[in-house]
Amino acid sequence: MKIWFFLLLICNFAFADESTDWQTQSYKQSKHLPDLHHAVDVKLLDEMQPPAEFFLKEDRKIGCKTCHGLEKLAETPYDKIDKNAPDFLRKDGYKKLETFCANCHDKKVHERPNIHLMLEENGEIKKENCLFCHSEINKQRDKLRPLVDTHLRLPVEKICVGCHLKTPHFNSVEHTDAKLEPDSKSSARKMKEHLKNLEQEKGVRLPLGEKGDVLCVTCHSPHPQGVLGEQNPTGKQVEGDAKKGIEYKNHSWNEVMKADKRERLEKIAASLPAYQRIEKEVLLRLPAKDGTLCLSCHEFED
Ligand code: HEC
Ligand code: HEC
Ligand code: HEC
Ligand code: HEC
Ligand code: HEC
Ligand code: HEC
Repeated sequence: MKIWFFLLLICNFAFADESTDWQTQSYKQSKHLPDLHHAVDVKLLDEMQPPAEFFLKEDRKIGCKTCHGLEKLAETPYDKIDKNAPDFLRKDGYKKLETFCANCHDKKVHERPNIHLMLEENGEIKKENCLFCHSEINKQRDKLRPLVDTHLRLPVEKICVGCHLKTPHFNSVEHTDAKLEPDSKSSARKMKEHLKNLEQEKGVRLPLGEKGDVLCVTCHSPHPQGVLGEQNPTGKQVEGDAKKGIEYKNHSWNEVMKADKRERLEKIAASLPAYQRIEKEVLLRLPAKDGTLCLSCHEFED
């Protein structure tokens, strides 16, 4: 859990030097929050009872002064804000970001708030979750739009990193720098052909980046079932329960896998989890456990 918060921070700082107009303006002027920043103007839930110094706006909504101790934060241009000031985050938050969040989020329930749980029990969408990744709430459509029109706060290659590692699992390592370009490469041409057929025949889309890059969202859907219409090819995904997450079971291949991958294992990390079989998948565009996902680009070789 700590690592996640740490990464969230690093991730934000790492992008901080991509200076753009809004960084020379204040929040009041631009109404632009820093990338991957916490939602504002959302109402505290009844069970959230932060200490009194977390000033609330009317209607129990949270604003800059709720979490930040600096005077006139909303009026100060972003590049003039002293983020190292001791009171930048209330309750010495930067030293203990984890306990800072716990001022509102119940530790047990919200140990690591799962952004992918985007639906209320009555089926309504949780807007603040949408606004974490999108700068506005995209209208639902049955037709596809280009990735660049989905109003993402960060480039699509970066949107998952920070909460997730860059290489969260084996197959992602091979695909981090993989590209279905240039067209003159016959393997790339074939894969693209497969993907086009898949979209036309099965109505499933595995979106690629601008330069044909394989992305996290090529294989994964960030949205759980029910957020995007089933008619939308980017809404189609495996049946699964985002709350439970991926479910695994032990498998005898663990030993084979270990022997086979020893060298790579050593290189990547000593602490990788055991090989287990997937029991239940979630947030995947096509099932991987029977190979469908992989075969939408790769071909079996004899
Ligand atoms: C729920 C608590 C909360 C609220 C409300 C809030 N912030 Fe933040 N803010 C944080 C936390 C936590 C961080 C540090 C972690 C991070 O960078 O995400 C932060 C970081 C920042 C940063 C530094 C970001 C960077 O990476 O350079 C700025 C600037 C900022 N907030 C401005 C604002 C403004 C302006 C408002 C009001 C519109 C606001 N915040 C409201 C919690 C909050
Ligand atoms: C001052 C209170 C407050 C603090 C401090 C706070 N949050 Fe929140 N947070 C909220 C409120 C209110 C919501 C909206 C809840 C809702 O309507 O479900 C929210 C929603 C979220 C969500 C959206 C997903 C969800 O579970 O609904 C995430 C993710 C989140 N907070 C993460 C954090 C993290 C990480 C920190 C610490 C850096 C933090 N929060 C600190 C009040 C707070
Ligand atoms: C974790 C980040 C993340 C969150 C949270 C998120 N989205 Fe998205 N969204 C994406 C990404 C990435 C894409 C582009 C890839 C895709 O279409 O799956 C996208 C695309 C979309 C699209 C366009 C699909 C198309 O091509 O027609 C819609 C509509 C959308 N999101 C709605 C929502 C709504 C509504 C919410 C809140 C309930 C939400 N998103 C929350 C990351 C996110
Ligand atoms: C080539 C397809 C593919 C790509 C690209 C991919 N994934 Fe996965 N991902 C999978 C499959 C299949 C699983 C199921 C579990 C497994 O095989 O590890 C999975 C599992 C996961 C899990 C759950 C791991 C667990 O054990 O609970 C996370 C989190 C995840 N992926 C995030 C990402 C992120 C972040 C990226 C981009 C950096 C990414 N994935 C890229 C196919 C992919
Ligand atoms: C705000 C942080 C956040 C962002 C951004 C985010 N995720 Fe997640 N994701 C989580 C959390 C928390 C879980 C719940 C499981 C856990 O705690 O590891 C999760 C779960 C998953 C899982 C299922 C793993 C499981 O077993 O539950 C996949 C797959 C996944 N995320 C992919 C993505 C992809 C792809 C993106 C980018 C489009 C993304 N995530 C963006 C926080 C995030
Ligand atoms: C969107 C298309 C796409 C999907 C889906 C996909 N891959 Fe790949 N994969 C690629 C590309 C592109 C490369 C880069 C090497 C190449 O051009 O053959 C690659 C490379 C690999 C490599 C390294 C091969 C080598 O020779 O270095 C492995 C292993 C691999 N993929 C396994 C998988 C598995 C397992 C799955 C399913 C979980 C999968 N792939 C799904 C496109 C895809």
